[in-house]
Amino acid sequence: MEISWDLLHQQIAQCEKCGLCRGIHHKVPGQGNSNADLMFIGEGPGADEDLQGLAFVGAAGQLLTKMIAAMGYTREQVYICNIVKCRPPRNREPLPDEAAACMPYLRAQFSLVRPKVIVLLGATAAKNILGDHIRITRDRGKWVEKKGVWFMPTYHPAALLRDESKKRDAWQDLKAVKAKLEEE
Ligand code: URA
Repeated sequence: MEISWDLLHQQIAQCEKCGLCRGIHHKVPGQGNSNADLMFIGEGPGADEDLQGLAFVGAAGQLLTKMIAAMGYTREQVYICNIVKCRPPRNREPLPDEAAACMPYLRAQFSLVRPKVIVLLGATAAKNILGDHIRITRDRGKWVEKKGVWFMPTYHPAALLRDESKKRDAWQDLKAVKAKLEEE
Protein backbone atom coordinates (compact mmCIF):
# COMPACT_ATOMS: atom_id res chain seq x y z
CA MET A 1 0.00 0.00 0.00
CA GLU A 2 1.09 3.53 -0.76
CA ILE A 3 2.47 5.56 2.12
CA SER A 4 0.28 8.47 3.33
CA TRP A 5 1.45 12.08 3.40
CA ASP A 6 1.18 12.07 7.21
CA LEU A 7 3.41 9.01 7.53
CA LEU A 8 5.90 10.37 4.99
CA HIS A 9 6.17 13.69 6.84
CA GLN A 10 6.54 11.84 10.14
CA GLN A 11 9.33 9.67 8.68
CA ILE A 12 11.15 12.73 7.32
CA ALA A 13 10.75 14.54 10.66
CA GLN A 14 12.30 11.59 12.52
CA CYS A 15 14.95 10.73 9.92
CA GLU A 16 18.58 10.35 11.01
CA LYS A 17 19.74 8.30 8.02
CA CYS A 18 22.66 10.63 7.26
CA GLY A 19 24.62 13.33 9.06
CA LEU A 20 22.82 16.29 7.48
CA CYS A 21 20.17 16.41 10.22
CA ARG A 22 22.80 17.40 12.80
CA GLY A 23 22.66 21.12 13.49
CA ILE A 24 19.70 22.00 11.27
CA HIS A 25 16.74 24.09 12.43
CA HIS A 26 14.03 22.35 10.40
CA LYS A 27 13.56 19.52 7.98
CA VAL A 28 12.27 20.80 4.63
CA PRO A 29 10.09 18.06 3.11
CA GLY A 30 8.60 20.20 0.30
CA GLN A 31 5.20 21.72 -0.24
CA GLY A 32 2.48 22.56 -2.73
CA ASN A 33 -0.37 20.83 -4.50
CA SER A 34 -0.29 17.16 -3.55
CA ASN A 35 -1.98 16.31 -6.89
CA ALA A 36 0.05 18.65 -9.08
CA ASP A 37 0.72 17.92 -12.75
CA LEU A 38 3.98 19.83 -12.39
CA MET A 39 6.73 19.17 -9.85
CA PHE A 40 9.96 21.14 -9.32
CA ILE A 41 12.97 19.47 -7.71
CA GLY A 42 15.89 21.52 -6.41
CA GLU A 43 19.10 20.55 -4.62
CA GLY A 44 18.58 21.09 -0.92
CA PRO A 45 17.39 23.70 1.57
CA GLY A 46 19.43 26.87 2.07
CA ALA A 47 19.56 29.08 5.17
CA ASP A 48 16.09 30.64 4.71
CA GLU A 49 14.48 27.30 3.95
CA ASP A 50 16.16 25.73 7.00
CA LEU A 51 14.80 28.51 9.24
CA GLN A 52 11.26 28.31 7.86
CA GLY A 53 10.98 24.59 7.08
CA LEU A 54 9.76 25.47 3.56
CA ALA A 55 11.38 24.80 0.19
CA PHE A 56 12.48 27.68 -2.06
CA VAL A 57 11.55 30.66 0.10
CA GLY A 58 14.90 32.57 -0.10
CA ALA A 59 16.26 34.63 -2.99
CA ALA A 60 16.35 31.68 -5.42
CA GLY A 61 12.85 30.75 -4.27
CA GLN A 62 11.54 34.23 -4.97
CA LEU A 63 12.89 33.95 -8.51
CA LEU A 64 11.31 30.49 -8.83
CA THR A 65 7.97 32.01 -7.76
CA LYS A 66 8.31 34.59 -10.57
CA MET A 67 9.22 31.88 -13.08
CA ILE A 68 6.15 29.86 -12.08
CA ALA A 69 3.98 33.00 -12.38
CA ALA A 70 5.46 33.75 -15.82
CA MET A 71 4.29 30.26 -16.87
CA GLY A 72 0.78 31.25 -15.79
CA TYR A 73 0.69 29.15 -12.62
CA THR A 74 0.89 29.79 -8.89
CA ARG A 75 3.12 28.03 -6.37
CA GLU A 76 -0.02 26.54 -4.84
CA GLN A 77 -0.77 24.73 -8.13
CA VAL A 78 2.60 22.97 -8.32
CA TYR A 79 4.64 20.78 -5.96
CA ILE A 80 8.13 21.95 -4.94
CA CYS A 81 10.76 19.87 -3.16
CA ASN A 82 14.46 19.02 -3.08
CA ILE A 83 16.84 16.09 -3.46
CA VAL A 84 17.74 16.34 0.25
CA LYS A 85 15.38 17.46 2.99
CA CYS A 86 18.06 18.85 5.36
CA ARG A 87 20.33 21.84 4.71
CA PRO A 88 23.87 20.79 3.82
CA PRO A 89 26.49 22.72 5.84
CA ARG A 90 27.46 26.02 4.15
CA ASN A 91 25.09 25.07 1.29
CA ARG A 92 27.54 22.54 -0.11
CA GLU A 93 26.30 20.04 -2.65
CA PRO A 94 24.76 16.95 -1.02
CA LEU A 95 27.18 13.98 -1.03
CA PRO A 96 26.13 10.88 -3.00
CA ASP A 97 25.36 8.89 0.18
CA GLU A 98 23.26 11.77 1.58
CA ALA A 99 21.27 12.03 -1.66
CA ALA A 100 20.85 8.23 -1.72
CA ALA A 101 19.65 8.16 1.90
CA CYS A 102 16.99 10.78 1.10
CA MET A 103 15.88 9.28 -2.23
CA PRO A 104 13.12 7.03 -0.79
CA TYR A 105 11.33 10.17 0.44
CA LEU A 106 11.51 11.72 -3.03
CA ARG A 107 10.26 8.47 -4.56
CA ALA A 108 7.33 8.51 -2.13
CA GLN A 109 6.62 12.11 -3.13
CA PHE A 110 6.60 11.09 -6.84
CA SER A 111 4.18 8.28 -6.19
CA LEU A 112 1.84 10.41 -4.09
CA VAL A 113 1.80 13.47 -6.37
CA ARG A 114 1.99 11.55 -9.69
CA PRO A 115 3.10 14.58 -11.72
CA LYS A 116 3.08 14.54 -15.53
CA VAL A 117 6.15 16.77 -15.79
CA ILE A 118 9.12 17.21 -13.45
CA VAL A 119 11.45 20.19 -13.77
CA LEU A 120 14.94 19.38 -12.47
CA LEU A 121 16.46 22.60 -11.18
CA GLY A 122 20.22 22.51 -11.66
CA ALA A 123 22.92 19.89 -12.03
CA THR A 124 22.48 18.23 -8.63
CA ALA A 125 18.80 17.49 -9.19
CA ALA A 126 19.38 16.45 -12.81
CA LYS A 127 22.32 14.15 -12.02
CA ASN A 128 20.62 12.48 -9.06
CA ILE A 129 17.47 11.77 -11.07
CA LEU A 130 18.76 11.17 -14.60
CA GLY A 131 22.33 9.99 -13.97
CA ASP A 132 25.81 11.30 -13.45
CA HIS A 133 26.38 11.71 -17.19
CA ILE A 134 24.11 14.79 -17.25
CA ARG A 135 25.82 18.13 -17.94
CA ILE A 136 23.35 20.90 -17.27
CA THR A 137 24.72 23.35 -19.87
CA ARG A 138 24.63 20.62 -22.54
CA ASP A 139 21.51 18.74 -21.51
CA ARG A 140 19.16 21.46 -20.28
CA GLY A 141 16.10 21.88 -22.44
CA LYS A 142 16.15 18.23 -23.57
CA TRP A 143 13.19 16.10 -22.54
CA VAL A 144 13.79 12.75 -20.88
CA GLU A 145 10.79 10.41 -20.58
CA LYS A 146 10.71 7.66 -17.96
CA LYS A 147 7.68 5.46 -17.36
CA GLY A 148 5.34 8.07 -18.83
CA VAL A 149 6.74 10.97 -16.76
CA TRP A 150 8.52 13.79 -18.58
CA PHE A 151 11.66 15.28 -17.05
CA MET A 152 13.02 18.69 -18.06
CA PRO A 153 16.49 19.60 -16.76
CA THR A 154 17.08 23.33 -16.58
CA TYR A 155 19.20 25.87 -14.74
CA HIS A 156 18.78 26.32 -10.99
CA PRO A 157 17.30 29.75 -10.15
CA ALA A 158 20.41 30.49 -8.05
CA ALA A 159 22.48 30.09 -11.25
CA LEU A 160 20.14 32.55 -12.98
CA LEU A 161 20.71 35.05 -10.16
CA ARG A 162 24.49 34.69 -10.66
CA ASP A 163 24.35 34.86 -14.46
CA GLU A 164 21.38 36.66 -15.99
CA SER A 165 22.42 35.61 -19.50
CA LYS A 166 21.13 32.10 -18.68
CA LYS A 167 17.57 33.38 -18.16
CA ARG A 168 16.66 33.28 -21.86
CA ASP A 169 17.45 29.54 -22.09
CA ALA A 170 15.66 28.80 -18.82
CA TRP A 171 12.57 30.59 -20.12
CA GLN A 172 12.65 28.50 -23.32
CA ASP A 173 12.72 25.38 -21.13
CA LEU A 174 9.78 26.53 -19.03
CA LYS A 175 7.76 27.43 -22.13
CA ALA A 176 8.37 23.88 -23.39
CA VAL A 177 7.15 22.58 -20.02
CA LYS A 178 3.95 24.62 -20.26
CA ALA A 179 3.36 23.40 -23.83
CA LYS A 180 3.85 19.78 -22.69
CA LEU A 181 1.34 20.25 -19.87
CA GLU A 182 -1.18 21.68 -22.31
CA GLU A 183 -0.82 18.74 -24.73
CA GLU A 184 -3.82 16.44 -24.70
N1 URA B 1 17.95 25.98 -3.37
C1 URA B 1 17.46 24.73 -3.50
O1 URA B 1 17.98 23.92 -4.26
N2 URA B 1 16.39 24.42 -2.79
C2 URA B 1 15.78 25.26 -1.95
O2 URA B 1 14.78 24.88 -1.33
C3 URA B 1 16.30 26.56 -1.85
C4 URA B 1 17.39 26.90 -2.55
